[in-house]
Amino acid sequence: MTFFKKERKLLVAIESSCDETSVAIVEDGDSILTNIVASQVNSHRRFGGVVPEVASRHHVEEVTLCIEEALTEAQVTPDELSGVAVTYGPGLVGALLIGLSAAKAFAWAHNLPLIPVNHMAGHIYAANFVEPLQFPLMALLVSGGHTELVYMKETGSFEIIGEMRDDAAGEAYDKVGRVLGLPYPSGKEIDRLAHQGQDTYHFPRAMIKEPNYDFSFSGLKSAFINTVHNAQQREEPLVIEDLAASFQASVIDVLVAKTIRACQNYPIKQLVLAGGVAANQGLRERLNQAVEKELSEVQLIVPPLRLCGDNAAMIGAAGFVEAEKGHLADFTLNATPSLTFMTL
Ligand code: KG4
Ligand code: ZN
Repeated sequence: MTFFKKERKLLVAIESSCDETSVAIVEDGDSILTNIVASQVNSHRRFGGVVPEVASRHHVEEVTLCIEEALTEAQVTPDELSGVAVTYGPGLVGALLIGLSAAKAFAWAHNLPLIPVNHMAGHIYAANFVEPLQFPLMALLVSGGHTELVYMKETGSFEIIGEMRDDAAGEAYDKVGRVLGLPYPSGKEIDRLAHQGQDTYHFPRAMIKEPNYDFSFSGLKSAFINTVHNAQQREEPLVIEDLAASFQASVIDVLVAKTIRACQNYPIKQLVLAGGVAANQGLRERLNQAVEKELSEVQLIVPPLRLCGDNAAMIGAAGFVEAEKGHLADFTLNATPSLTFMTL
């Protein structure tokens, strides 16, 4: 039985897991008609991180407007849609609940099925807007909350073969940025500074040689903070560009080495770089070079910057797969803040 019975295969998708309210209309799972992203980053910046209660309030204010805007911009009416894809985890519980409530209300009002989507699956399926995904594939998922290597034997199947033991890569960028007095989130700025400096501090490359695919960035973060504090106490000058370059070189060395090794040990056709940290220019360049050199048979897919951060289009792409598999939810669907691929 096929899920899509209308003339066009259209889904509306809603994402509200963190500090972006986003609504998209996606066609055929690989084409974006519209992808509205209302970012709250300016409201959280003065607190140095996302404040859950502030995030929820912004989602309440934005979500209905985003739905209306998305339909208008895509020139689609609700009766042309086949379903409502929505992020139900992982993420902030209050933030998730706003998107879920909006999705349920819209689905109920227009008699549409509800399609539950894992946010991390969404990040991977963002690559489907660039190239049709071919399986088996490997995904390096690097975001503010996660760092994982995910092996996908086929569409909709996720096996975590390596994951973070402590801080996620994005989290480490943001914490280090705070020590440097950079505004939150600081990944982009550290990336920019890194391109103007050299790896002179030689921070540790944690777990790079260990025979597993796990990651640890808290030791690097501590080494970085100690270096800065020691220099400040001794009133020695610090070269911020070199600090950024040294930190970034350490993160990228580990991410690239472990990803390449994983790809050599699994029979994959594609490698997908996904998540907010996938916007990192240094990581994009280095992974590209490493794949060309070491994995000539593997196709690397790196989504454009606007699809690396949180957005609803990626939820629509992953929702398309879930819908075709018949994975639908009823109105008891709840937010699952620590949803993993295992709980799918
Ligand atoms: O995927 P995402 O938008 O939200 C989560 O699901 O966590 O990722 C946000 C993270 C933040 O930690 C931010 O600092 C990081 O992505 N980030 C970057 C860059 N752009 C965003 N990290 C390194 N380099 C960048 N260019
Ligand atoms: Zn995300």
